[in-house]
Amino acid sequence: MEQDKYTIIGQFDELVESDKSLAQAAMDALRFSYAPYSTFHVAAAIRLADGTVITGVNQENASSPAGLCAEQVALYRKGIEFPEKEITQIAIVARSGDKQDLVPVSPCGNCRQVMVEFLHRQEPNYSILMKWEGKSWIKIHQVDSLLPFSFTAKSR
Ligand code: THU
Repeated sequence: MEQDKYTIIGQFDELVESDKSLAQAAMDALRFSYAPYSTFHVAAAIRLADGTVITGVNQENASSPAGLCAEQVALYRKGIEFPEKEITQIAIVARSGDKQDLVPVSPCGNCRQVMVEFLHRQEPNYSILMKWEGKSWIKIHQVDSLLPFSFTAKSR
């Protein structure tokens, strides 16, 4: 991905206040992650244009395909609770096993497809903030740059 499409931020303290609070909402939600099989815990927090924040966490299942990623849980929750409101940003964080430190996370292909579908339900683009390598964070300015040449309603 070209470097103008994302910004790497050195550490949490260097995030702007709005990024910090959304990242914190995702970190706070991590404890609700249900991931007994992978022990990879993921949380997503979505900010809407009016400031509302919605969270989601991964929900695993003994039959693994029945599980759902954190991003999709958060987005579908948004779809039913606030269908008319616009998304401005999503923050995603993850933790692995017993380790307390956050680990890097990047949305899977299915989640990117769902994110793009939600983008097409509103006018403005939205950004994705994720925990990255070491102490750093990464901000993808426009969600659709995560899924170029995507399959959309226009493709059908
Ligand atoms: N997972 C997410 O919830 N979001 C991501 O962006 C990456 C993967 C979940 C799915 C599964 O419960 C666990 O992480 C390990 O694959």
